[in-house]
Amino acid sequence: MFRMRIAIAADHGGFSLKAPLIELLKQDGHEVLDFGAYNTERSDYPDFARAVGDALQRGLADRGVLICGSGVGACIAANKMRGIRASVCHDTYSAHQGVEHDDMNVLVLGARIVGVELASEILRAFLGARFNGIERYVARLKKVEQMERESCE
Ligand code: RB5
Repeated sequence: MFRMRIAIAADHGGFSLKAPLIELLKQDGHEVLDFGAYNTERSDYPDFARAVGDALQRGLADRGVLICGSGVGACIAANKMRGIRASVCHDTYSAHQGVEHDDMNVLVLGARIVGVELASEILRAFLGARFNGIERYVARLKKVEQMERESCE
C-alpha cells in the first residue's frame, strides 16, 4: 500500500468512527489531516464535506474520508465540489471498484450503518485501489467532467 495524505472529517453522527479510523490510517503509515469535528456537539455535514473537498482541490491531500450518520448527506455535499468524486460505500467491493473504474477520491461512511471493523476493511480496500485508466473508464469520466463544467457555468 502506498503512503498517502488523507483528509478526514466527520459530523456528530460520524464522530464515533473518526478516531479509530485515524488510528488505522496512522498505523498503515498514512499522513492524516483531521478536519474535525473534535467533539459530539451537533454540527453540519456540509462544513466537513467542504473542508475535505477543499483539501483535495488544493492538492493538500490525495484522498478524502467523510463520515456522517448515514453517509448520505456528506456524500451529496461533497459531490457539489468540482473534482470531487465521492461515494458512500458500505461494502469492500464498491470501495475498491469505485476507485478502479470511477476514480472515486472520497470515501463516505455512515457510522450508524457500519461498525469499526467493517469500516476499517472498507477503508483499506479504498486506499489499496488505483484507477486503472482503461480507455472506456477515462471516456466516462470525461463525460462526468463535462456535466460538471456545464452545470457550474
Ligand atoms: C445527523 O443527525 C445526520 O443527519 C447526519 O449525520 C447524516 O446522516 C446526514 O446524512
